Amino acid sequence: MIHCENLVKIYKAADIEVVALQGLDLHIAEGELMAIIGNSGSGKSTLLNMLGGLDRPSAGNLRVDGKDLLKFKESDLVTYKRETVGFVWQNNARNLIPYLTALENVELPILLQGRRKRHRALDLLEAVGLSHRSKNKLNELSGGEQQRVAIAIALANQPKLLLADEPTGSVDTKMANQILDLFRELNRNFGLTVVIVTHDPLLAKKVDRVVAIRDGKTSSEILRRKSYQEELLELEQGIVSSEADSHMEYAVVDKAGRLQIPANYLESIGASRTHKVRVEMEDGRIIILPSDK
Ligand SMILES: Nc1ncnc2c1ncn2[C@@H]1O[C@H](COP(=O)(O)OP(=O)(O)OP(=O)(O)O)[C@@H](O)[C@H]1O
Ligand SMILES: [Mg+2]
Repeated sequence: MIHCENLVKIYKAADIEVVALQGLDLHIAEGELMAIIGNSGSGKSTLLNMLGGLDRPSAGNLRVDGKDLLKFKESDLVTYKRETVGFVWQNNARNLIPYLTALENVELPILLQGRRKRHRALDLLEAVGLSHRSKNKLNELSGGEQQRVAIAIALANQPKLLLADEPTGSVDTKMANQILDLFRELNRNFGLTVVIVTHDPLLAKKVDRVVAIRDGKTSSEILRRKSYQEELLELEQGIVSSEADSHMEYAVVDKAGRLQIPANYLESIGASRTHKVRVEMEDGRIIILPSDK
């Protein structure tokens, strides 16, 4: 679904240039449910905006659903945003109207797009488990319920790809879990590819793949060893497995063979001081040693 290679984004504001993405590589398969984590300022939203066609990359390759986004004209971008992607933000107030009902909030963007499928709005509320609240005004709904209205709207154009930037940032853990369950359901039932950006390491543990971004580059990947279903089953049976059993962390090697070694590892062998290490091959392993100079 998504192929990002050597993606670069430079923001120019006045005389200052900020390199938000510095040659990022990322591949996401169709039907994946995955998360992107990283510190504040690491480039997560920048990446999501590129994927959603809200902003253009400065250089590199970006293909989504077989389309080359760097070759897009303005009109292509409009079609792409309308037909291929759905977007969910942390702060849903920017998409929703408080004095309209849940149903009216979902209907509005459908009508504005000139579509006459008004009845679809109720189906969408049903899909996010909110049909029983359709007649309530938005300001009568909880934060998590409002977020589900926003998700229903994001699904209105039947996107292939759902992008969510900190979708659980402003709700409590219980609501966050419900929203994540909803993403999982949509992913399973409709084959929707879902990419979630989050700060929350706990939320990230609940998807099959987590990619960590550092300084605008992918630095490591955590893959789930067992499926979420298997884990739920174990939980029901009272089997307690450690985190190391369920997840495995990998460092990402880029095309040029570069990989990022965790800072605390480097520090422990004094490499952060000398800026050099020795790399040796031994018995099918690559060993990194402190330099003697
Ligand atoms: N429109 C912009 N103009 C200039 N600089 C920008 C712009 N948007 C983002 N940046 C800069 O690019 C870098 C990456 O920002 P980004 O918003 O992608 O980070 P993030 O990982 O989403 O952070 P957070 O977790 O705080 O949301 C930051 O240094 C930020 O200041
Ligand atoms: Mg952000």
